Amino acid sequence: MEVFHSLADFKRWRRGFAPDIGFVATMGALHAGHVHLMEESRGRNAATVVSIFVNPLQFGPQEDFTLYPRPIEKDLEVCRNAGVTAVFAPTAESFYAPDHRAYCEVEGLGRYLCGAARPGHFRGVCTVVLKLFHIVRPARAYFGKKDIQQALILKKMVADFDVDLEMELVETMREPSGLAMSSRNAYLTEDERSRAAAIFRGLTLAREAFQQGEQGSEALMEIARREIEASHPTSLQYVEIVSQALLEPVKRVDGPAVLAVAAFYGTTRLIDNVLLE
Ligand code: PAJ
Repeated sequence: MEVFHSLADFKRWRRGFAPDIGFVATMGALHAGHVHLMEESRGRNAATVVSIFVNPLQFGPQEDFTLYPRPIEKDLEVCRNAGVTAVFAPTAESFYAPDHRAYCEVEGLGRYLCGAARPGHFRGVCTVVLKLFHIVRPARAYFGKKDIQQALILKKMVADFDVDLEMELVETMREPSGLAMSSRNAYLTEDERSRAAAIFRGLTLAREAFQQGEQGSEALMEIARREIEASHPTSLQYVEIVSQALLEPVKRVDGPAVLAVAAFYGTTRLIDNVLLE
């Protein structure tokens, strides 16, 4: 496995590399969810490139940028075991020029959910991912449905900018308790981790009610809210049903929609969602 910490070195390697590349963008602290994306890529592409970069642009001033775990040696081992061809783990200095001024924004789709809760977040995500796409030039790119708003915004960016690659959205990997795997789960205490399993229980109960015919968003959200609140999250930031096309709240679920949750347990912010379709 090749490992690059400099943008110039990676670009030199990429220029001499012809096969189709499947690409998995990450911020590291890799877990089984990330590995699942790598496996999906390996199954369909001659080579798999993984980026590991904690992107300062997508963190708000009060968020966990400096705290975010960076176990680089362990991450490289995970990539090696997953059969990854090359890892691109640039330093922030080699990645963004000191006078970087170009940003990418997908209008409208960031109005609700995490876009409302984290101003500027998706602008940071789109900017880094577009830049990574230009550097890696993959044939296919793999993103998790766990971050559904991110995946749908990036899909729209790719469509509107005619980025020449296929976007593949991959199922959420979960702990046996149902808790969605996340690098941020490492922050949770034992007690918080077991309480946080209520997020997926709530989502599942609401999805079951939907499958049995309940279409009212308020009723469905209330089912999820009740289950999650019983686990005493430190705060329940949002429980929301939005359409998949516009990511805007809907009163009734009569087309493809997403039920999404963000909740804090202690100081850790967790997100999860289920598709209603
Ligand atoms: P990160 O949180 O490291 O996630 C990298 C990719 O792994 C994303 O596509 C995310 O949706 C996916 N992923 C995370 N948890 C998952 C799970 N439990 N099951 C399946 N896939 C999962 O998302 C980011 O990094 C960044 O915003 C990034 C896209 C790299 C841009 O900086």
